[in-house]
Amino acid sequence: MPEPASAVALTVNGALVTVERGTTVAAALLMAGVATRTSVYGEPRAPLCGMGICFECRVTIDGVSHQRSCQILCEPGMHVTAPATESTNNAEGRQSSHREA
Ligand code: FES
Repeated sequence: MPEPASAVALTVNGALVTVERGTTVAAALLMAGVATRTSVYGEPRAPLCGMGICFECRVTIDGVSHQRSCQILCEPGMHVTAPATESTNNAEGRQSSHREA
């Protein structure tokens, strides 16, 4: 089935995500259930302010790190990587919400 003209397809940590045009990257991450950061104890963190102040939503977009995902709209073909998952993926490639002891 073809996507509606208002849909935007991008990848989040390598997984295809489709959102409505005008959706921020932060919203796409939340819809995909992806944490943007982890606390010092390994707990998942997510966008907090939604207006560019807290920097909790930083991700890598198309190879450019530390982009505030709440300030950027999804674009077709965009590749988004959340730093939280770069260090917490387990051997099977699944995201872990807690660090192993
Ligand atoms: S959610 Fe606070 S800067 Fe993006």
